[in-house]
Amino acid sequence: MNQKTLAIIKPDAVQRNVIGEILCMAQERDLVPVAAKLIHLTRERAQGFYHVHRDKGFFDSLTEYMCEGPIFVMVLEGEEAIEGWREVMGATDPAQATQGTIRKRFGENIERNSAHGSDGPDTARFEIDFFSGDLELEG
Ligand code: CDP
Ligand code: MG
Repeated sequence: MNQKTLAIIKPDAVQRNVIGEILCMAQERDLVPVAAKLIHLTRERAQGFYHVHRDKGFFDSLTEYMCEGPIFVMVLEGEEAIEGWREVMGATDPAQATQGTIRKRFGENIERNSAHGSDGPDTARFEIDFFSGDLELEG
């Protein structure tokens, strides 16, 4: 099924100038960027994006990290794009991630893990809507 997912190259990876390499990995998986922008989140927006994790112990540190520098936000489209992008990213913890995944190659630790991807269709809809103003998406 053709799908869209919300993908983010996180601040650690943008700072290390590896956006291009990560885009290549999406391309190899036939995931096509249909919208993209560099965005510098405020703390409030980072907290809104990760609202689902507000009760977790890592929430404050995570939301501080997500606004320490620009992020590269993309809508990726392709066959089973949601699951496909999560496979390209690898496990949340880079130490557990498979060889050749983004998080294995670029992630520093379980927090600074270089990439985000929606985890299901409802999340993808919420997350694409969250950035629709920045990305100038219609409707
Ligand atoms: O990003 P993913 O869906 O794989 O993982 P998550 O469980 O939804 O957590 C969101 C983000 O919080 C992760 O990508 C990490 O950046 C961070 N996190 C953390 O700092 N410490 C944890 N124990 C779990 C997640
Ligand atoms: Mg998640």
